[in-house]
Amino acid sequence: MHAIDIQALVQPARVHRRVYTDPAIFDLEMERIFGRAWLYLGHESQVRQRGDFFATLLGRERVIVTRHSDGSIRAFHNRCPHRGAMVCSERRGNTPRFVCPYHAWTFGTDGRLVGVPHRRGYEAGFKERMESLGLEPIARIDSYRGFLFGSLTDEGPSLADYLGDDVRMAFDNFVDRAPDGDLDIAEGKLVQVFNANWKLQIENSIDLVHPPILHYNAVEVSKEFLGASGPDEPVPTAVDIFRSNGLPFEEWDEVRQYALANGHCYMKGFLQKSDGEQLTIEDEARFGSDDQMPFEGQLDYKRALVERHGAARAEEILAFDRHNTIVYPNLFINPRLQQVRVLQPTAADRTEQHCYVFALRGAPAAALHTAVAFLTASNSPASIVTTDDHEIFERIQAGLESGEREWLDLTRGVDRDVVTATGREAAGTSELAMRNQHDAWKTYMMEAA
Ligand code: FES
Ligand SMILES: [Fe+2]
Repeated sequence: MHAIDIQALVQPARVHRRVYTDPAIFDLEMERIFGRAWLYLGHESQVRQRGDFFATLLGRERVIVTRHSDGSIRAFHNRCPHRGAMVCSERRGNTPRFVCPYHAWTFGTDGRLVGVPHRRGYEAGFKERMESLGLEPIARIDSYRGFLFGSLTDEGPSLADYLGDDVRMAFDNFVDRAPDGDLDIAEGKLVQVFNANWKLQIENSIDLVHPPILHYNAVEVSKEFLGASGPDEPVPTAVDIFRSNGLPFEEWDEVRQYALANGHCYMKGFLQKSDGEQLTIEDEARFGSDDQMPFEGQLDYKRALVERHGAARAEEILAFDRHNTIVYPNLFINPRLQQVRVLQPTAADRTEQHCYVFALRGAPAAALHTAVAFLTASNSPASIVTTDDHEIFERIQAGLESGEREWLDLTRGVDRDVVTATGREAAGTSELAMRNQHDAWKTYMMEAA
């Protein structure tokens, strides 16, 4: 393979098209970014009971996450130390042990090799050697407020430092919204696949120029819906958010975005709210937009939060006004929508997006129903929003193969960033957060192993 000049591919405010299209660069990303960053594994509620397990991907690595009988959570490469078979083919379940389907080497939920058929076929000291023939643990696993992350290397910052204050705040807010102080992952997930590069999605989620243009249809449909339902009718969550796609650019500029260390970023919320001075937590309006439809039991939910945290803190928790928080390289979280999305890139031009919803413990069932309904409206194959995004990613992927022009332009707002205590801030329509993602990309990619 000819050497790749990483340095030359990401320049101030422009990115070379090969960054999205070249399979050799994709391989290097898997090694240097996904092989080094803290990556989202799942949530502790997926392994609540001893013996619970689930299978997932960390970059390209197949991983099993288990709850061992001592209560600890472990993560292993899903590969038999004997002759390499995938030990676990289930996506999740509960088991006291994993049995390899090929020759039945058997492992505990702590990965220890506990059984080998026809052991006398091995040398005399084999029993001792079995110690070293367990499932291979991944280099690091850690959790923050119940969200599990894994890393394929021992090197680098702790999880808490990797996330940093501003990202941790989003996880804190997610958990603090639960009246009983914990989350449960909801059954099922939505998986969408697009034939385009993974970075197009992390850029898109902080691209606040495209909503009124690309999502024009969603805006028009929302307007029609609102026209038909009358001015004083409460507005369903999806319509509330879809109509906001149509905000004028000046208002999108007011939705500030923040670029943080390690490529992370977040954007403020954009729901239409009064300034809140006369409103109390008891007012329905203190949740989404002023006219957003409350879910059944919303008032009781808010009272339960007050009970747990006190009125001032409960108000602060509900007023946490952010839309996407993007944890580089591949995680999106949105506490108010009770939503987590994870990207699993499988090739330079193929990406899976896995979307999950969480139940807030102690909140009424209707809160979860609202969150599921919104995820379905926004992130299912039938969505009138994500489908636009995925279509445009595929058109970009196709477009990048054409013509002589080498560079993608990311200059919007480049001369107007504001430096803050924890990073940089810019108008919503700036391309700051994307430039920040590419800076992180370059830093990872240029560090040789
Ligand atoms: S490959 Fe797993 S027991 Fe042989
Ligand atoms: Fe979009």
